[in-house]
Amino acid sequence: MKTYNLIKPLIFRLTAKDAEIAHHWGIRYLEAVSKINWLSGRIAQRHCVYDRRLEQTFHGVTFPNPVGLAAGFSKNGEALAGITAYGFGFIEVGTVPFLAQPGNPRPRLFRLPSEQSLINRMGFNSQGAPAVSDRLSQLETNQTEWPVIPIGINLGKSKSVDDSDINAVVADYLSAQRLLQRYADYLVVNVSSPNTPGLRSYQEPKKLSVLLNAVREESMVLADKAGRPVPPLFVKFTFDIEPSALDDALSVVVEYGQGMIGFNTTVSRDGVTDPKGKEAGGLSGALLAERSLELHCHISRYLPKDFVRIAVGGVDPTNVREFLKYAHLTQLLTSWVYWGPSVALDCNQLLLWMLKRNRLSSLSQLVILEKMGLFPASGY
Ligand code: FNR
Repeated sequence: MKTYNLIKPLIFRLTAKDAEIAHHWGIRYLEAVSKINWLSGRIAQRHCVYDRRLEQTFHGVTFPNPVGLAAGFSKNGEALAGITAYGFGFIEVGTVPFLAQPGNPRPRLFRLPSEQSLINRMGFNSQGAPAVSDRLSQLETNQTEWPVIPIGINLGKSKSVDDSDINAVVADYLSAQRLLQRYADYLVVNVSSPNTPGLRSYQEPKKLSVLLNAVREESMVLADKAGRPVPPLFVKFTFDIEPSALDDALSVVVEYGQGMIGFNTTVSRDGVTDPKGKEAGGLSGALLAERSLELHCHISRYLPKDFVRIAVGGVDPTNVREFLKYAHLTQLLTSWVYWGPSVALDCNQLLLWMLKRNRLSSLSQLVILEKMGLFPASGY
């Protein structure tokens, strides 16, 4: 039995009144791991799976494995080396708005253990782009604390900026981008969190194209000035919109960007039986998997092959291979809480085992086999 399964009930009990305390403990612990080289080395030996068959390169960025940590854990760029030691293939920092903001009043994070789900209404609590930029700069200077895996920077709107003023919203995103792009292996425009009023309206094609056009142009200017490559631009969506609206929004992203991340938390409560389901906010975890998978299957049929699709929403070791039939990469967050710190290792070991058993030399072969109706056995 894994140690985490023994201590999980204790952690859940001690943080029953406010689940966010567990998140803070996690961050403090992983920050300590980041600073102690021999400890992060030992943890990495146990949790990191190094195998070329799991590696993929998209738009010049090499992902050592397809299991990333989703936005929302390292909101301010904390603990990146510690997180890396637990076997993730990439980490998304943020969401970072330009302005520091406290987010919504606590409690604002709720566990629904019977559904392996969470509800959060954090509201982009953030130290803000200037402070996050300072932290990333320090980590980069002290090389041992800088992760060896790709870092995504997820940008969002500051709450105090009026969402009906598109020029102000664009200016707000660009202000954060100017401070943070240099640390980004890929950039994410988040237009899908349910806890920032008006944000989701930027999934509407007209507004989205104005925003993405501005971010793309700024991205090229910044890259040129810094003598660095232009990071690929991804957009993060919710599935709380009609599939046809998602298709329309994706056609805009295809024009301006290189990929999509789907999906953010949902305001739907379908399938929720836990009394905490009444809490306002976005639902994440196991209950999202079916819908997320369904939509990835749908969009994979028409999006260009080199348009990166990152699947998120209920990803865990039981279904990661299903997601990789349709998406290039996956991310998870809620299953880290329920499965424990070795969840990325479990996913990667399972994928590798499946590749070996079916004599496949790369993850991309899964997609080809799926298209031919010859998807291999998982044996999970
Ligand atoms: C999130 N998520 C999120 N997403 C985002 O783009 N920016 C953010 O700041 C946050 N913050 C956040 C906080 C908490 C506590 C949770 C649980 C989630 C959404 C997250 O990245 C992911 O899209 C969803 O949680 C679905 O994935 P999982 O959790 O089911 O694996």
